Amino acid sequence: MSATQGKMPQGNMRFEVWMKEVAARMETVLDGVLPAAARPPTRLHEAMRYAVLGGGKRVRPLLAIGGGEVTGAEMWRCELAGAAVELVHAYSLIHDDLPCMDDDVLRRGKPTVHVQFDEATAMLAGDALQPLAFQILAENKLADDPAIQLEMVRMLGLASGSCGMAGGQAIDLASVGQQLTETELENMHIHKTGALIRASVMLGAHCGAPLSAADTQHLEHYAKAVGLLFQVVDDILDATASTATLGKTANKDADHDKPTYVSILGLPGAKRRVNDLLQEANDALSGFSTRATRLRELAQFIVSRSF
Ligand code: IPE
Ligand code: IPE
Ligand code: MG
Ligand code: MG
Ligand code: MG
Repeated sequence: MSATQGKMPQGNMRFEVWMKEVAARMETVLDGVLPAAARPPTRLHEAMRYAVLGGGKRVRPLLAIGGGEVTGAEMWRCELAGAAVELVHAYSLIHDDLPCMDDDVLRRGKPTVHVQFDEATAMLAGDALQPLAFQILAENKLADDPAIQLEMVRMLGLASGSCGMAGGQAIDLASVGQQLTETELENMHIHKTGALIRASVMLGAHCGAPLSAADTQHLEHYAKAVGLLFQVVDDILDATASTATLGKTANKDADHDKPTYVSILGLPGAKRRVNDLLQEANDALSGFSTRATRLRELAQFIVSRSF
C-alpha cells in the first residue's frame, strides 16, 4: 500500500501548494499500482506507465480528494479511488489520440502512445489500464460498508462505459461535420468528459461517512456542473491556447470540424457558459461550509487553468 495513511489534512494549506503536493503523492500512488516496466510483457507495461506517469494535471484525483474532504474520508482511500479514475482517464486519452479517433501526435507534451510505441500497443495499453482501475476499487477496502464499495465499482463502470465516457466519445465521432444544438452538444460533453469528472467527486465522497440524500444531491449537482464546465474550458483552450502551452495540438477541434462550445456559441458565449456553470457549482456547495473548500478552489482552478 503506497497511498498516504491518515485523515484528510491541511484545510488551510494554500491551494497551489496543496495541488502540487497531491500531484506528487499521486505520482507515487500511480507508480505503485502500475505493473513494473521490467515485468513481462515489458513493452505493454512500459506503454501503460508512459501513458500514466510524469504528466497530467491530476484533476480527477484532486476532485476525489476534494469529495472525500466533504465526508471526512481517509486520504489513502481517496488517493486510490482517484488513481482508479485517473487510469480510466489515461486509457481514454490513449484511445482518443489514436488515428481512428482524433489522430493526435502530442499528449502531455510528449509523443502520443501510438507514436512512441505502435498502434496495437497503444490499444492494448488502454485495454489493460481500464481493468486495473476496477481491480484497485475491488482489492482495497475503500469504504467501511462492502455494499458502498460495490456501489463505487458500479459507479465507475457506469461513468466509463457506453452510457458514460465511451458513449460520449461515440457521439463525438458521429458529430464531426454536424451542426449540433446546444442541448445536443451539452449531452455529448456530459458523457465524454463529465461522467468521469462526476464519478471522481462521488467516488471520493463514498470513501467517507455517508451523506444525507439532500447532501448527496447537492454534491452530485456540483460534480455534474464541474464535469460540463471542464469540457467547455477544454473547448475554449483548444481554440485559444498554443500547442506549447497545452502540451497537445492546439486548434484540433476546428481542424477536424468538431462541434464545440466555441463553434456553437462563439468565444464570448462559451465564456458566459463557463461563468454560469461556475456559479451553479458554487451554489450547489453552499450548504457544506469549509468542508467543500477544496472543491470550490478546484472549480475555480478548472476555469482559470491555462492548459
Ligand atoms: C483532457 O483532460 C481530456 C478531456 C477529457 C477534456 P485533462 O485536461 O484532464 O488532461 P490531463 O490529464 O491534464 O493531461
Ligand atoms: C476527450 O475530449 C474526451 C475523452 C474522453 C478523452 P477531447 O478530444 O477534446 O480531449 P483532448 O482535447 O484531445 O484532450
Ligand atoms: Mg476527442
Ligand atoms: Mg482529442
Ligand atoms: Mg479537446
